[in-house]
Amino acid sequence: MLKDTFGREFHYLRLSITEACNFRCQYCLPDGYDGPANDAFMSIQEIDTLVQAFAGLGTSKVRITGGEPSLRRDFTDILSQTKRTPGIHQVAITTHGARLERFARQWQQAGLDQVNVSIDSLDPRQFSAITGQDKLQQVLKGLDAALDAGLNVKVNTVLLADFSAARLNRFLTWLKTMPVTLRFIELMETGEHADFFQAQHQSGTPLKSYLENNGWAPISRDRSAGPAIEYQHPDYEGKIGLILPYSKDFCKSCNRLRVAANGNLHLCLFSEEGIPMRSLLKEGNTTAVQAFLQEALGNKHASHFLHEGNTGATRHLAMLGG
Ligand code: GTP
Ligand code: 5AD
Ligand code: SF4
Repeated sequence: MLKDTFGREFHYLRLSITEACNFRCQYCLPDGYDGPANDAFMSIQEIDTLVQAFAGLGTSKVRITGGEPSLRRDFTDILSQTKRTPGIHQVAITTHGARLERFARQWQQAGLDQVNVSIDSLDPRQFSAITGQDKLQQVLKGLDAALDAGLNVKVNTVLLADFSAARLNRFLTWLKTMPVTLRFIELMETGEHADFFQAQHQSGTPLKSYLENNGWAPISRDRSAGPAIEYQHPDYEGKIGLILPYSKDFCKSCNRLRVAANGNLHLCLFSEEGIPMRSLLKEGNTTAVQAFLQEALGNKHASHFLHEGNTGATRHLAMLGG
């Protein structure tokens, strides 16, 4: 079992398999990706050792992230290998969604259960301006394909300064009939984007009050549910989630650990340097990896230090999958 010194239990691994992405989201990789090629990252065998080690310590959910995880040629094999690991009951991905229309069914058949897709605006021009890709329609078709394939779908929308009533209303109208959970996320400061953060960050608290005053009721979630809050409304097919990392006590329900594509363990999204594990993974020694994880967990802090403007070593979220 993975438990830290604050009594939090970790059954959820966020595993980045590549830093590469072909979108250019303003808050993440505005100039595009120009880092190492995919063969610099953990191999599928190293990933297998890692997931087995976590599963043996009680991990039941793995979210595969990037960069854009579907850019790896062995992506489908990674999905099926992860789902076959004894103890792993839920396999999720976070994706930009541009390849879902083509692959949702294949990925579901490989073992995928849940997909989180970024859609920052339902206005095609605004979507292109934020992501650098004129692909809103393609991503929306991808969502339909994911739902048709029986996947559980969540949509991520980062709150930016120009988030207007018009943009919110368009999302709300859409949610009337869309069976997805739409999560609004407060923009988080990262090492490379301090200026963008200063210009664009806005608190999600007014939106929370708006929802609570307009018929959205909080859904009670179990103890292992993690830091997001969720709401439902009798007139809407979809649900709304809020991810407010600047709110008090956000980290109290932390339930996840992260491994970056280079095989470094990150105890927090905003930890200091990641802790290298790659040599252990190359050896394929699951027991040694487990001993390493248990010892490292003793150093996890109670909370991130974003309030003090300390982003740790996190340059942007593509290096760690958010
Ligand atoms: P599920 O609860 O598994 O659906 O996933 P999630 O909401 O954690 O995953 P997703 O990859 O869709 O992340 C959505 C947003 O939440 C991203 O901006 C992440 O960076 C942010 N996020 C996820 N986990 C954490 C966390 O532990 N801390 C902080 N500060 N942000 C997080
Ligand atoms: N702050 C908040 N969310 C971010 N994401 C990427 N960078 C940031 C940031 N600085 C979101 C993406 C994606 C998810 C993995 O993280 O929109 O949905
Ligand atoms: Fe956990 Fe760090 Fe996220 Fe807080 S910011 S919820 S401690 S990973």
